[in-house]
Amino acid sequence: MSSSLSVNRSALLLLVCLVGVPGTGVAQSDVSRAERVEALLSRMTLEEKVGQMTQVTLTAVAAAEQDVDGHVRLDPARLREAIVEHHVGSILNVVDASLTLEGWHALLTELQQVALNETRLGIPIVYGIDFVHGGNYLRTGTILPHNIGLAATFNRELVRRAAVVTAEEALASGLPWNFAPVLDVGRIPLWPRYYETFGEDPFLAGVLGREATEGLQQTGPVAATIKHYLGYSGSDVGRDRTPANLTERVVREYYLPPFRDGVEAGAMSVMVSSGEIDGVPVHASRYWLTDVLRDELGFDGVIVTDWQDVIFLHTRHRVAQTLKDAVRMAVEAGIDMSMTPHEYGFAVHLAELVREGAIPESRVDASVRRILTMKLDLGLLDNPYPDQTWAAHAGTDVSRQTARQAARETITLLQNDGVLPLARDSRILVTGPAADALTPLHGGWTHTWQGTDPTFFPTNTPTLLDAIRARSGSVVFAAGSGFEEALDIDAAVRAALGADVAVIAVGEDAYSEWVGDIPDLTLPAAQLDLVRAVLATGTPTVLVLVQGRPRVISAIADDAAAIVMAYVPGMEGAEAIAEVLFGEHNPAGRLPFTYPRHPNALDTYDHKFTQTLGPTIDRGPGGFYPQFAFGDGLSYTTFTYSGLRLGSPAMGPDDEQTVDVTVTNTGDRAGQHTVLLFVRQHYASLTPSVRRLRGFDKISLAPGDSQTVRFALTGNDLSFIGRDGAALLEPGLFDVMVGDLEATFELCSDEIDAPNS
Ligand code: BGC
Repeated sequence: MSSSLSVNRSALLLLVCLVGVPGTGVAQSDVSRAERVEALLSRMTLEEKVGQMTQVTLTAVAAAEQDVDGHVRLDPARLREAIVEHHVGSILNVVDASLTLEGWHALLTELQQVALNETRLGIPIVYGIDFVHGGNYLRTGTILPHNIGLAATFNRELVRRAAVVTAEEALASGLPWNFAPVLDVGRIPLWPRYYETFGEDPFLAGVLGREATEGLQQTGPVAATIKHYLGYSGSDVGRDRTPANLTERVVREYYLPPFRDGVEAGAMSVMVSSGEIDGVPVHASRYWLTDVLRDELGFDGVIVTDWQDVIFLHTRHRVAQTLKDAVRMAVEAGIDMSMTPHEYGFAVHLAELVREGAIPESRVDASVRRILTMKLDLGLLDNPYPDQTWAAHAGTDVSRQTARQAARETITLLQNDGVLPLARDSRILVTGPAADALTPLHGGWTHTWQGTDPTFFPTNTPTLLDAIRARSGSVVFAAGSGFEEALDIDAAVRAALGADVAVIAVGEDAYSEWVGDIPDLTLPAAQLDLVRAVLATGTPTVLVLVQGRPRVISAIADDAAAIVMAYVPGMEGAEAIAEVLFGEHNPAGRLPFTYPRHPNALDTYDHKFTQTLGPTIDRGPGGFYPQFAFGDGLSYTTFTYSGLRLGSPAMGPDDEQTVDVTVTNTGDRAGQHTVLLFVRQHYASLTPSVRRLRGFDKISLAPGDSQTVRFALTGNDLSFIGRDGAALLEPGLFDVMVGDLEATFELCSDEIDAPNS
């Protein structure tokens, strides 16, 4: 049935009067955006308004019995309870698993028909989804690498292209509101959502977050959601949804910058962190949500809570004595929509609070205005049904090529004694828990929330074993161990004795959110035992790390002939890894985090001088001594830097300092290379970092070729957050560093205070 024909006539007429002509957009030019929204708002009852501010999960309106056939069966009574009785403005999520394209279309059409035909004002719902690495809840969707791998590409254009693929698949499904990108900065590697981040550096996360936000929103009417504002990833203990005891200065220095970038990039919505900062749950923080996000950063889109978090102010965080008080707190703090997500207490309490005079109706109006404006901007007020013209954009060959290219460029060669690339005629043992499995390659948020059910994956998706077998006629497989438990390690050892080389794929199976909490960053014992046993045979061993965070491997790393970090590379991951192993692709990924050598040595690359007692990264076991450093990544060719040159030996606060450096491919293969520019201030009134990333550029060079790369630094790049939370620029000497080249310049000004003055 054609969805637009199914609109009830009376609802249609009402919409025409209020907001223009559905499906045509004709009247949009006649009536301004704000007027359309005000006209609608002025007709709404209080119940309709608080309903717009309510978001429930699909399960709340779905039938109890479901088949996993890619279609959702709704419960007509519960659906009407949500949309007609409680006037909910938004629904999110899947029930158990991804839907087919037809499944999404049928679902969205059914929901919108009820919203348009059976409610007084016919306001469509806005559907929210977590497409966090491609169309991961679409049965035929493209599964891209998770963000931690995309960060390793250091490729702005590729990250944008990946976001465009995601947007196309959201549009094809008819899903207008995406809960991505994650802009939490991955400073704590234990944190189970580390793989969803762009790594440990705020500058890198900000640059790539901007690309992802713009890429999601540039393709068609899709709203990006930068999440989870704020401080979520700064948990003290590294478990999901646990407190971050961060000072405001630290929050502003390390966690806020990517969100500032995301707001500047035009993100239409923000999701709030489920955590707390310095004792204040972010959902209850008027300071962070209103004073900073709205007033300081100028965000005027929709602020949505995370899952059940208003309720949790009462039941978990215990800052609200009652549920009603929790609602008051969150609304006063500044949220627009509550992901309740199973019930309607939020709406009921909010209406009561308004009636009692505890919350002015104008406050509710402000939120509803923003929600309606987002619906208008997404075109929902004109035509809320899936736009069939996008259907052909799901799971295309082009999207798959983007997934392949992204996976290739994520892969980071951390160690290689020359064993790689492999010769096709070698006798190869393939072993380890990630070798013949799809779920670790795809990770969490793939067809199901946890990503642990491969039955929904396309049947032709290769495992790493398949991809290696496709390239070599002499492959033996022995599982060796699971992720947590030993299997037949002896069989792997016997096979290793007859092999020229062993490829062991270790790491982590898929997980999402708190299910991925771990008490120890060390690679599980069963996997270490397998690797040790294979290493003991003397057969050269290549470790392939398929993992969302740096599991500690110091017990085995030094004896491995090569180490390949694959992160969570998605559906094209196996092919991409095999391309690198066999030298078809020359690796160029660089680590977007510091890989710890010990579980308790979790320093970041931009630590303070006291953590190294000097600026170099290698001070032995007692100091900063990571397994691999931020930015590490080898190639099958070699690159050298020369001619580091500053534009001027001195600059003023409003000047621009240029930094030129020449890169030469000194090997015998073409390759890509990312140049990283770090800056260090000699002395400052607050302890400076040993280095901070302030520029990066990825280039391609043929053997023997050179290219000069230019960076430009502004005062902003040299500033840091002072005690009062404001950016501070202090004069003095600064070093710029590219590889092992350094140059020094002076920042001088009469207007800015010298340190400690
Ligand atoms: C996660 C969010 C996600 C939401 C909706 C929450 O549990 O923290 O990242 O967007 O669920 O699925």
